[in-house]
Amino acid sequence: VPGPTPRELLPRLREFQQDPLEFLLDLARRYGPFVRLPVPGLHIFSIAQPNAVKHVLQDNARNYSKRTLQFTNLAMVTGQGLLTSDGEFWLRQRRMAQPAFHRQRIAGFGEAMTAAAVRMLERWKAREGEALDVDHEMMEMTLEVVGLTLFSSDFSAAAKRMVEATLTTLDYVIHKAQNPFGPPAWVPTARNRRFRQALGVLDQAVYQLIEERRAQGLPRDDLLSLLLEARDDDGQPMTLRQLRDELITLIIAGHETVASALTWTWHLLAQHPQAEATLHAELAQVLGGRTPTMDDLPRLPYTRAVFEEALRLYPPAWLITRRATGPDTVGGYPIPRGSLLILSPYLTHRQAEVWPEPETFRPERFLEDARPPRYAYIPFGGGPRLCIGNSFALVEGQLILATVAQRYRLRPADPKPVEAAPLVTIRPKGGLWMRLERR
Ligand code: HEM
Repeated sequence: VPGPTPRELLPRLREFQQDPLEFLLDLARRYGPFVRLPVPGLHIFSIAQPNAVKHVLQDNARNYSKRTLQFTNLAMVTGQGLLTSDGEFWLRQRRMAQPAFHRQRIAGFGEAMTAAAVRMLERWKAREGEALDVDHEMMEMTLEVVGLTLFSSDFSAAAKRMVEATLTTLDYVIHKAQNPFGPPAWVPTARNRRFRQALGVLDQAVYQLIEERRAQGLPRDDLLSLLLEARDDDGQPMTLRQLRDELITLIIAGHETVASALTWTWHLLAQHPQAEATLHAELAQVLGGRTPTMDDLPRLPYTRAVFEEALRLYPPAWLITRRATGPDTVGGYPIPRGSLLILSPYLTHRQAEVWPEPETFRPERFLEDARPPRYAYIPFGGGPRLCIGNSFALVEGQLILATVAQRYRLRPADPKPVEAAPLVTIRPKGGLWMRLERR
């Protein structure tokens, strides 16, 4: 398998830690889309080639588990939720949760999405001309969407406490990922104690929300009610612990990902006035200043293409890892049992073989009939573990983009170049500072 020698790799391990996106991209440039990292005692592969990705995520998905550092770290917070569990247990949970993400359900969530965007626009009125951190604004708005769609709450005290605690626990997970050889979670360091405390707050808040809803006995059309009503093949509901794990998983998976995608969309639009003008023309023609509804979405293909192209260049979930539970052959290369596979949508989306001029922002790619092969575009992963929220996210992105772009143009407020920091998702380093220009 192509790749650097141990002698070449060793001096660069710090770089891998500090700027993994650039590191992985550089390896692919030097050695191609299938690279072995020669770390003694381990088999690590970085795979960017679409057919090989398809093999791992779909064709032979059964051979791969989520027992990797990425997901075991995350499981400290999400337990056995959909994102981190495996095998039969995962399948049962996925079947129970799937109906909650049915297209018709998502249609019902559309109103919550535009409501959150409209509320943000209200807040912005007083801030026109001011520089504001768009990254922060998008996080706040998508958090509101999560609150409304999960709990029908535009933030009861319990829901707010819970989300803040979730963010604290995520910071801890990032720290663990960047410092894998630090003290384990049970050692009573100050950081570990803060983590335990946040986890306690999180648990208490989520259990309280579940109990309150159970006591009310009034089902609502939000995700909490749908999960409470879900039954497995034997007619059994989820246990309290499972509900907790799934709710926290949905907060984590459904909030920062969409915010990050929207943040990069604003950044890219500001850099590409032609694309921005095309977007504005489509919005003017179809909506004429009206707040969009779900029914408008099929008539807004360019709006969707803008969001999809932003997801190509800055896929929020930039890293997908898998562990080989048995030996396999991928792309003609032998993969020993126990291997760690790194699939990075960021890398796959920048392969020149499938994406001509990969660094160029060109939403038209998603309009033409000649869309690239299925596994060349994997912002939501693929196969059985495909993101359960992918339609939800695309609808949310399209609705919010249409609502906000009709009212404002966002212009860079900081002359420094924007750098991408791969954390849980890809975020602009130090935020994304932009000025609001009313249209
Ligand atoms: C899984 C990306 C939005 C819930 C995934 C995976 C990716 C992904 C790549 C697969 C991970 C893997 O195979 O290891 C994204 C992106 C989003 C987004 C880029 C936004 C632009 C959402 C939303 C929700 C959600 C809005 C829920 C409301 C989930 C869940 C899983 C998942 C529960 C685990 C599914 C399973 O394994 O059964 N997401 N996601 N995601 N996502 Fe998303």
